[in-house]
Amino acid sequence: MHTRTLGQGLAVSALGLGCMGMSDFYGPADDARSTDVIRAAVDRGITFFDSADMYGPFTNEILVGRALAAVRDRVTIATKFGFERTADGGWVGINGRPDYVRASCDASLSRLGVDHIDLYYQHRVDPSVPIEDTFGAMKELVDAGKVRYLGISEAAPDTIRRAHAVHPLAAVQTEWSLWTRDVEHNGVFAVTQELGIGFVPYSPLARGVLSGNMPDPATLTDDDFRRHNPRFQPKNLDINMRTVEAVKAVARRIDATPAQVAIAWLMAQGDHVVPIPGTRSIDRLVENIGAASVILDESTVQELSEIAPDGAPAGQRYNDLSDVYL
Ligand SMILES: NC(=O)c1ccc[n+]([C@@H]2O[C@H](COP(=O)([O-])OP(=O)(O)OC[C@H]3O[C@@H](n4cnc5c(N)ncnc54)[C@H](OP(=O)(O)O)[C@@H]3O)[C@@H](O)[C@H]2O)c1
Repeated sequence: MHTRTLGQGLAVSALGLGCMGMSDFYGPADDARSTDVIRAAVDRGITFFDSADMYGPFTNEILVGRALAAVRDRVTIATKFGFERTADGGWVGINGRPDYVRASCDASLSRLGVDHIDLYYQHRVDPSVPIEDTFGAMKELVDAGKVRYLGISEAAPDTIRRAHAVHPLAAVQTEWSLWTRDVEHNGVFAVTQELGIGFVPYSPLARGVLSGNMPDPATLTDDDFRRHNPRFQPKNLDINMRTVEAVKAVARRIDATPAQVAIAWLMAQGDHVVPIPGTRSIDRLVENIGAASVILDESTVQELSEIAPDGAPAGQRYNDLSDVYL
């Protein structure tokens, strides 16, 4: 797998592995199986792994840290703070206070079993705390050697600029896929290009939909995020599946799978773009890694871009959009 560089010099595999679904949001966890998937990813050249303290909550970092312990020096571990949760899965709120940043980092280091975090993101911006205060505390973590690079997730362009002025950012992580296109028009992608910040698209497969193999929503467990997400409600999903049919047609034509096409389309948007598809299956991991070898020509990239223009999907991407682009 070739590498790409995030920000000022964080070299990672051109495709990362999202580990969230191994512990939360997409149904029951199976740590043994997920450990095998993480290790299979390492064997196939993936060096970039994405976690967060709130996935589980608190269990995903333990899983990721253990699975990668033997290869710790060869991989980049990214994690996040900012969504405050209780151990039983409850939600407290968004917290960007400096004391919380420091305590969260120490707790993540301990759960991951590492002496430093390679890439530390603020998961969501706390509107009650100036971003300079939050990133001032994150910069101190870099100075103390606890963190190597900083990132931010789902922030507005001006917030990204202000955070970057406190300490250069290596990555902005935001939802981006063929069915969530707003970063192309709201200044978020443009600001990463302008400031030389890496872009890490999350949910690049639209939470499974763009693979063309999404399970029947009626079979999802009640704690599955998609069960209650507007875009997955039957009426909206019927409309949204038209995008998938069009992606499938392109995939057939170029002898790739729909998941590979969806990931390759993102990778074609810029050399600083590193998608992090998530899976709990080695077969799907191998399929998704294949996307790094799918080179789309300009006209196919354009065709895909026209298949699903910004705003085309029916239903919002989250029930509550009040904590994004702050
Ligand atoms: N910053 C944030 O706020 C934020 C929010 C969401 C996610 N993330 C990060 O982004 C990562 C990726 O996003 P995501 O997991 O939400 O969505 P995703 O990568 O778009 O899709 C994951 C889903 O697709 C399925 N899948 C993956 N590859 C497949 C394939 N080839 N064929 C069929 N199904 C496939 C997976 O099922 P199986 O697991 O059963 O294979 C899983 O249900 C997460 O793991 C997390 O690290 C960050």
